[in-house]
Amino acid sequence: MSLFNVYPLYNITPVSAKDVYVYDEKGIEYLDLYGGHAVISIGHAHPKYVEAITSQVAKLGFYSNAIRNPLQEELADRLEAVSGCKDYQLFLCNSGAEANENALKLASFKTEKSRVIAFKNGFHGRTSAAVAVTDSKSIIAPINAQQKVTILDLNDIESVKTELEKGDVCAVIIEFIQGVGGLDQATKEFFEQVDVLCKANNTLFLADEVQSGYGRSGKFFAFQHYNVTPDIISIAKGMGNGFPIGGILIHPSIEAKFGMLGTTFGGNHLACAAGLSVLNVIHDDFLMDNVQTISEYFFKIAETIPQIKKIKGKGLMLGLEFDFEVSDLRKKLIYEYQIFTGGASNKKVLRILPPLTVQKKHINQFFEALVNALDA
Ligand SMILES: Cc1ncc(COP(=O)(O)O)c(C=O)c1O
Repeated sequence: MSLFNVYPLYNITPVSAKDVYVYDEKGIEYLDLYGGHAVISIGHAHPKYVEAITSQVAKLGFYSNAIRNPLQEELADRLEAVSGCKDYQLFLCNSGAEANENALKLASFKTEKSRVIAFKNGFHGRTSAAVAVTDSKSIIAPINAQQKVTILDLNDIESVKTELEKGDVCAVIIEFIQGVGGLDQATKEFFEQVDVLCKANNTLFLADEVQSGYGRSGKFFAFQHYNVTPDIISIAKGMGNGFPIGGILIHPSIEAKFGMLGTTFGGNHLACAAGLSVLNVIHDDFLMDNVQTISEYFFKIAETIPQIKKIKGKGLMLGLEFDFEVSDLRKKLIYEYQIFTGGASNKKVLRILPPLTVQKKHINQFFEALVNALDA
């Protein structure tokens, strides 16, 4: 059987990894400034993470959501403590798209409305409603296009107000730092006014923190850089450091009913063990402090490189914008300098999404390679 050929691949085969390094089958070492697409939060194969998963799978890897699973409660308590999001309720699933799918569904249940406002260049996943609210025509199939969605420009608060006042909008969904789109951010005023307008119009404010959450922005959630209170926060990528787990944090004003949401695999024992160890390492190893320190260092060096036209993002969710498309530069960085970086739908942006354990020496290694690659 052949694989369904949907991914353009780099010709590299990683077989092991440790912290910020990935090794291929020939033993060649690559510096991972991509984090498997913002997934690796606490570093590859962190010993506490390996131990947590190994000992859990030897005891009980999975049982269904029809029985009590104290690990889910432990994860919820730990998430509340580490994120500072008090009194939210947690629903666990398996991926970012699924988290947004559940967030949108819940917003529609709660408000009994069905239209969604989303934003230009936003990305929220590839499943039903999640892809419908994603601004990328080529990945929306006719079956997805049936959803009622209005895509607006970031920072166009007048249009948000006009649309919300029509009274049929169940949710506004937004990334506080756009990931796939290319690291754009709306203004503080915009985010805060959207929050106020949602509350005035019985519309839920959905923070898609699938990529920007779990410390990547320097705070636990990117929305915490602003004075807003999302009704639902979706999480995934960094949550399991590679183990598939996602979830939504649900404001206490939204009441659960049996059967409202559900999943077979979501919140299984093994996923919870992975998720708990990630939260413990983020907290115990002060990774959010490291994100801030390394981010400042990164900005300082990037500012000295004339070919970089714009430095975008926050924390370790960063983009370097050039006045040329970066696909050849990315290839050069991988094949000649053994450094993984990311691309974006804005083809002039090089994305930097390293494990949150990255150190100054790795940033130095990257900029040395970048300068050489740009000069060559
Ligand atoms: C902001 C955001 N939301 C949702 C998703 C979808 O997550 P997943 O690929 O886990 O379904 C992504 C993935 O890149 C993302 O960046």
